[in-house]
Amino acid sequence: MTWQVEMVEWSSSLVTYTFLTLLTVMLANWFYKRRQKVLLIEQIPGPKALPILGNALELNLDPRELFKKINSFCDFGGVARVWLGQAPYCLVTHAKAVEVILSSNKHLDKSRDYTFLHPWLGTGLLTSTGSKWHSRRKMLTPAFHFKILEDFLEVFNSQSTKMVEKLAQRADGQPFDIFPYITLCTLDVICETAMGVNIKAQDNSESDYVKAVYRIGALVQQRQARPWLQPDLLYRLIGSSKEHDACLKILHDFSNGTIHSRRIEFQKEKRNKLAKQMDDVVIGKKRRLAFLDLLLEYSEEGRGLSDEDIREEVDTFMFEGHDTTAAAINWSLYLLGCHPEIQARVHEELDMIFSSPDQPVTMAELREMKLTENCIKEALRLFPSVPFLARELQEEAVLDNYRIPEGTTVVVVPYKLHRDPDQFPDPERFDPDRFLPENTSKRHPYAYVPFSAGPRNCIGQKFAMMEEKILLSSILRKYRAESCTRREDLRLLGELILRPENGNTVKLFPRSIWYTLNTLDNGETRVRRSRIASTRGEMSSTGAAGVAGGGAGVVAGECGRCGVGGRRGSRQAEVSPGAQGSSCAASDPE
Ligand code: HEM
Repeated sequence: MTWQVEMVEWSSSLVTYTFLTLLTVMLANWFYKRRQKVLLIEQIPGPKALPILGNALELNLDPRELFKKINSFCDFGGVARVWLGQAPYCLVTHAKAVEVILSSNKHLDKSRDYTFLHPWLGTGLLTSTGSKWHSRRKMLTPAFHFKILEDFLEVFNSQSTKMVEKLAQRADGQPFDIFPYITLCTLDVICETAMGVNIKAQDNSESDYVKAVYRIGALVQQRQARPWLQPDLLYRLIGSSKEHDACLKILHDFSNGTIHSRRIEFQKEKRNKLAKQMDDVVIGKKRRLAFLDLLLEYSEEGRGLSDEDIREEVDTFMFEGHDTTAAAINWSLYLLGCHPEIQARVHEELDMIFSSPDQPVTMAELREMKLTENCIKEALRLFPSVPFLARELQEEAVLDNYRIPEGTTVVVVPYKLHRDPDQFPDPERFDPDRFLPENTSKRHPYAYVPFSAGPRNCIGQKFAMMEEKILLSSILRKYRAESCTRREDLRLLGELILRPENGNTVKLFPRSIWYTLNTLDNGETRVRRSRIASTRGEMSSTGAAGVAGGGAGVVAGECGRCGVGGRRGSRQAEVSPGAQGSSCAASDPE
C-alpha cells in the first residue's frame, strides 16, 4: 500500500517538476527573445524611456500637443523609436525607409490602433488583413476605374454648385469658418456616390445620420489617444460606450436599410430584364450606379459578398472618403488664401479653361487644371490629410541599417517626411511648382506619400483628386479667398485626420478681375485682366448668364498695356495658363 502512495506522490511531483521545468524554459525563452528585441530597438535613436512605462507619460497629452510631441520625436532621426509602455513604436520619416515598409508585400498588416474602427467598419478594405484584404482589393479595384468615376462627375458638379450657392451668402468680406461648408458638401458627395442616396447634408446638417458620422469619428479618436479607454471593459465602465453604440446603431441602420432597399430594387430590375442596361453602367431612368450597386452586382454574381460584407465596404468608403477630401480642399484654400499671387495664377488658369463660373466640369477641363492640381498636391504635402500610417511588422525589417524586430509598430509620419529639406528645399514654403514634371523627377519616389503608396495605397486617390479639383475650382471661379490665420498661428490637430483646430477662417470676396486670352494680329497671345464692372451682386446672382455670356455689361474695358479689345476667352486648351511671361504686367492687382 505504502509503495502505491509513494508511487502516486512520485508521479505527481514528476508532473509538477516537468510542468515547472517547461514553464521555466518557456519563460527563459520569452525573456531571451524579448531581450533580443529590446536590444535591437534600443539601437535606434529616440527619447529616454522610463522602465515599464517607457515614454507613455510624455505622450499623455491633449491631441494638439500629442501631434507636436510625436513630430518632435521624429527629430531623433529618419528612423526613431518610442516606447508606449512595453510596446515599441518606430517612427519613420526617411524616404528610403518608408519605401521598405510601403512597397513590401509582407508588411501589410495594420496596427492595433485601427481596431477601434472595427465596430463601425468591421474588417472592410481599410482594416482587413491577409487573404480577406487581397480578395476584396482585387474585387473593388475595378469600381474605381476612370470610366466609373466619370459617371460621378454629375454628383461632384451638382453638389459643388449647391455649396457655392450657400457660400454666396457669406461672400461679403466678413471672416467666417468655411470648413463646415466644404465638409457637408463632401459628405453629400460620398453618400451619393457610395450609396446612391442624397442625404442633403448641406441643407440639413442637423440630421441624425450627419451628426452620427461626425460624433463617431471624434469618439474613435478620443479612444485611440487614451490608453485607459482602450480595453473594452474599461470603455464600457468609464468611456463613452453608450454614445458610441447609439451612433453605431444610427449608422448601421442607415447603411443596412439602404443596402436592403437597393437589393430589392436591383432584383426587381433584373427580373424586368434591365440587367443588360446595368452592364452598360446606366440603368432604368438613367440611374447612376453607386459603389453599392456594383457591390450588389458582384454579390448577385455569386462572388460571396453578404449584406454584412457590403456594409463594411460602404461604411469604409463613407469614413475614408469624406473627411480626407474635405481636409485637403480646406488646406488648399487656406494656403491659396495666404498666397494671393498664387491664387491669382489659379484664377487665371480657371478663366482660361472655363467660359463661365457655372460651366459644369468634364474630364477635359479636369485634365487642363494643371496648376490647380499642383496646388492641391502641395497642400497635401504640407498638410497631409492622413497624418500617420501604422503597420505591425509580421517579420523583421531593416530600415536605415537598423534591424526592426517582428511585432514592432512602424508609423510612417508623412507630415515630417514631406518636410525633408533634401527632397523639398525650403520645405515650409508653399510652392506648387514643386510638382512640375521636371521637379518631381528629381525626388525619391517615396518622398511624397499623402495617399500612402505600394500595394496598400489609397484606392480612392483618383476619385479624391477629381472631387478636390471640382470643388476647389467651383469656389475659385466665383470667389477670391483671404485666409485670416497666419501660418505661424496655426494650431494643428493631428488625429485620424489632420485639420486646423479652430476651423478655416477666411474672408470671401466675389471675383472682381476676370482673365481672358487675347490673340493679337500677329498671332501672339496675351492674358488680359479685366475688372468686372459690378462686383458682388452680379457675380453671385447672375452667375453663368452674366459672366459667361460673352461678358456683355460685365467685363469692362480693355487692357491698358495691350490695348486690345477683349474677346471673351473660349476654352483654350492649348494655352499654358500661369505662364507669367504672357500675362499683361500693366493690369491692376486684384
Ligand atoms: C484627399 C483625400 C484622401 C486621402 C489623403 C487619402 C489617403 C489615404 C491613405 C493615406 C490611405 C492609407 C491608410 C493606411 O495605410 O492606414 C488610404 C487608404 C484608403 N482610402 Fe483613401 N484617401 C483619400 C480619399 C479617399 C476616398 C475619396 C476614398 C473612397 C471613395 C478612399 C478610400 C480608401 C480606402 C478604401 C483605403 C484602404 C485601402 C486598402 O487598405 O487597400 N480614400 N487613403
